[in-house]
Amino acid sequence: MCPQKPEPGSAEESELLEGGEIELLGRMPWSSNATFLVKLDHGGRESLAIYKPRKGERPLWDFPRGTLCEREVAAHLVSEALGWGIVPRTILRDGPAGVGALQRFVEHDPEEHYFTLRERFPDVFRRFALFDVVINNADRKSGHCLRDGNDHVWGIDHGVSFHCAVKLRTVIWDYEGEPIPPADLEALGRLGERLGGDLGRDLTVLLSGAERQAVEDRLDWLLTQRVFPHPLTEYPYPWPMV
Ligand SMILES: Nc1ncnc2c1ncn2[C@@H]1O[C@H](COP(=O)(O)OP(=O)(O)O)[C@@H](O)[C@H]1O
Ligand SMILES: [Mg+2]
Repeated sequence: MCPQKPEPGSAEESELLEGGEIELLGRMPWSSNATFLVKLDHGGRESLAIYKPRKGERPLWDFPRGTLCEREVAAHLVSEALGWGIVPRTILRDGPAGVGALQRFVEHDPEEHYFTLRERFPDVFRRFALFDVVINNADRKSGHCLRDGNDHVWGIDHGVSFHCAVKLRTVIWDYEGEPIPPADLEALGRLGERLGGDLGRDLTVLLSGAERQAVEDRLDWLLTQRVFPHPLTEYPYPWPMV
């Protein structure tokens, strides 16, 4: 089965995600939460998506219970506001196992990941590195970077992000100490404006007040430093790394 793929960012993509009927196809291997591959059907048009119901989230000691799906959506909104197209469209929606995050499925070759792609896409991964600082991503594994058939690299699995405490754990440390490219600084500056307006308002329903403020603080810090940070904690890597 190979449902036709809607263009990323297209109206068709949102219609399918927002209004498509959800059919569970199976649980994803290697997922730490209950993460399902689903088929969406909207008036005969079909596509695949990843569905992470809130009630399938594995409890964690450091994140409030049942909030990972909101963090996935918040990551998508920040990615959109930056204009970097890192996170595939992700929405919060009711599904067969209750409310959860629903994200467009990215067709990709699972043999590829950050460590095999980084030489080909250094500018893309610079943006990943900055994005991860802003959202305080605690789990940027190499395998959370997927290249699609159009050579666009997407980031997935942002459920453990946006904590107030510094938790940046990532495999992308190649650029530490480098100046941030001017175009990326501009995008980060624009993100600051959006945080003061529409994006800030959208995040209020997805994150706590303190977490939302922490996004602004990390962004201000990056804009002041103007360099890619060095590791911020003693063990700055995810486990496992791929
Ligand atoms: N949007 C996506 N497109 C394609 N594959 C995905 C997507 N999201 C997740 N996956 C696949 O599902 C696996 C588990 O998803 P992940 O987001 O890591 O879930 P968990 O929160 O359970 O760790 C990933 O390793 C990846 O193979
Ligand atoms: Mg995962």
